[in-house]
Amino acid sequence: MTNKASDALLFFRAWLSAPLRVASVTPSGRALSSLMTTEISADTGTVIELGPGTGVFTEALLNRGIAEENLVLVEYGSEFASQLSDRFPAAKTVQMDAAQLRKLPIHASAPVGAVVSGLPLLSMPLRKVHAILEGAFSHLRPGGAFYQFTYGPRCPIARPLLNRLGLKATYIGCTLANVPPAAVYRINRRRPRRSFERTHQYPLSNVQKNPF
Ligand SMILES: C[S@@+](CC[C@H](N)C(=O)[O-])C[C@H]1O[C@@H](n2cnc3c(N)ncnc32)[C@H](O)[C@@H]1O
Repeated sequence: MTNKASDALLFFRAWLSAPLRVASVTPSGRALSSLMTTEISADTGTVIELGPGTGVFTEALLNRGIAEENLVLVEYGSEFASQLSDRFPAAKTVQMDAAQLRKLPIHASAPVGAVVSGLPLLSMPLRKVHAILEGAFSHLRPGGAFYQFTYGPRCPIARPLLNRLGLKATYIGCTLANVPPAAVYRINRRRPRRSFERTHQYPLSNVQKNPF
C-alpha cells in the first residue's frame, strides 16, 4: 500500500472511532495544503501546527522552507501522534489537547511566526476555542498569524470571541479542489489604537467614573 493510501485508511479509521475529533473522513488535499501555507516562508521562523493528522500541512510547511526542527506538532490522537514523530523525527511532536497550549514550553531557535490549525473548531465548545486562541497568541511573536480552515460559509471563530481577544479575521481564499471544499482565514492581533485616538476620541465629560 502507498503512503497516501495507508494515510487515508488510518484517517478513516480514526474518524470511525472519534468522528467529532477528526471531523473529516479523509485528509486535506494538496490545494488546501497550499492555500493554508501560502503566506508562509523560511522567514516565518518557528511554526506550531495544531491537529496535523497524517501531516499533509506539515509536508506543505517543509516545502515552503520551514526547517523540520522549527516545527511543533500538537496532536491529540495517539494514532496520528506516533506516526508524526516517526515521519518527522526532527520536529517536536506533542500528544496533547491543543486547549492546553498556553502551558506548553517551546524552546525553539526562532520566534513563533505562525500557528497553522487543522482543528475542527466548529465542533468545539466556545470555552475551548477561547483557550486554544489564547494559548496560540501567548506563543506568537508580534505580527505572527494564526491560520485556520473551515468547511463552513464563514470564519469558524465567532466575532464576539475575536473582539474579546483583540483579534481580527481576514479571508485568505477558498478551494473547491478539496473534499469537502474549504476556506482559509488568517487571524491577527488588532493594531492597538494610537494614543492620539485614545485620548481624543471621546470628550472628557463622557468618561465614566468608577461607580464602585
Ligand atoms: C479535520 S482533521 C485535520 C487533519 C489534518 N490537518 C488535515 O487537514 O488533513 C482534525 C485534526 O485535529 C486533531 N484534533 C482534534 N481535536 C484536537 C485537540 N483538542 N487537540 C489537538 N488535536 C486535535 C484530530 O485528531 C485531527 O488530527
